[in-house]
This record gives sequence, C-alpha cells and structure tokens, in this order.
Amino acid sequence: MEPDVLATRAAYDLVADRYADLLRFELDGLPLERALLGALAELARSNDAGPLVDVGCGPGRITAHLASLGVPVRGIDPSPGMIAAARRDHPSLAFEVGSMERLDLADRSAAGILAWYSLIHIPPPRLEAVLAEFSCVLVPDGPLLLAFQAGNEKRRITEAYSSRVSLDAYRLDPAVLTEMLSRHGFALVSSTRREPREGEKTAQAFLLASRR
Ligand SMILES: C[S@@+](CC[C@H](N)C(=O)[O-])C[C@H]1O[C@@H](n2cnc3c(N)ncnc32)[C@H](O)[C@@H]1O
Repeated sequence: MEPDVLATRAAYDLVADRYADLLRFELDGLPLERALLGALAELARSNDAGPLVDVGCGPGRITAHLASLGVPVRGIDPSPGMIAAARRDHPSLAFEVGSMERLDLADRSAAGILAWYSLIHIPPPRLEAVLAEFSCVLVPDGPLLLAFQAGNEKRRITEAYSSRVSLDAYRLDPAVLTEMLSRHGFALVSSTRREPREGEKTAQAFLLASRR
C-alpha cells in the first residue's frame, strides 16, 4: 500500500470503535441517501452476478444496510481496526482488509460497487487509476455509487473522533469526476447534490453510474 494509505489506515485504526458507535444509526435520519443506496442495491440485484462490493466499508454499517436490501455484499477496507469492528458488528457478512487501488477481484466479477466517503482519501492524481480498476471488476451494466463532499480542495485532518490523527481528505468536484467516469466506460445515471445539514461544511455529492 502507498505511504498515504498506510497513514490513513493508522488513523482509522485509532478511531474505528468510536466511529462505529457514533455513526451506527446515522443512515436512519438520511432518507435521500437511503433512496440512492436502494437504487444501487436494486440495480446490482438485477445483474444476478457476484457480490456488490463496498470499497472503504469502514465498520460495515452501509454494507449491512445493503445486505438488508437482499443483495449479496462484500466489504473491503485497508484499516484492520475498521474490519475488526465490521466483523464484530456484522458477523454474518464478508469483510477483508484491502485497498480500492488494488482490488483482489477477478475482472467482471462484481455486480456493483459502492465507494461511500472513501474515495475522499485518494489523492486526485490517482483517481483515474481507481476508476479504471472499478471498470475492470464490474460486470457490464454494473452500477457504481460514489458519495463525497463536494468542493475542490485538500484537507489535512489532525483530530477526528476525539483522537489526534494525521490523514488527508479531498473535497471533489462532481463535474470533474463525471468526466473521469465517462473516460473509464461509465454512463452517468444521476448526479445528486444535497445541501449541507447542520454540522456539515459543504454540500454532499452522489454520483450513480453504470458500466457500459
Ligand atoms: C469516512 S470513512 C467511511 C467508511 C464507510 N464507508 C462509512 O460510510 O461508514 C472512510 C473509509 O475509507 C477507507 N479508505 C481509505 N483509503 C482507502 C483505500 N485506498 N481503499 C479503500 N478504502 C479506503 C478508510 O479506511 C475508512 O474506513
């Protein structure tokens, strides 16, 4: 793994249990997000092929939500602490340590991919390669859903969930990502922008695309 991924994983190892506790029920208050995840699950289910892969699954709260919608799932995250929390909280689901930059998946083996606030840790010059990787492992017509904070800047995070950490995160421009998606064989299905809620500094962006 790249040095920045190792730094990110060390940060999430430190906060994994607290993150899991704080965000366990967050989705209950987010109807728009649940609608988009529902669309992803339905599109992946209709492929009738392989699992829907949650890349950067953290403690598995979204993976478990997708499983509850009746789609086979698998979670991948570089942080062993996050994967331990995911296995503890959702023992019937499959989680593995790994990076979205080198997915241990056969070509055309994933029915769908979710990257829910995980692409935010990939330095922008490496995003093209990540989308190329997603494109390879998805089945034709396989859906991809990306969630991220909208913007165009790098943030250095030194404190998270009451712990001193050191990790970088990027706000991303949905228009730039949409262009990148089309260069890697994806057709945009929807671009959704949600205005910031209390406590959020930026709008939230959600891109749903389909592998051509
Ligand atoms: C903000 S958390 C989101 C976790 C989860 N998707 C959720 O919403 O609860 C970001 C996650 O991205 C993961 N991550 C960072 N770099 C990654 C990479 N190269 N590949 C896959 N996941 C990564 C982190 O370990 C962390 O668990």
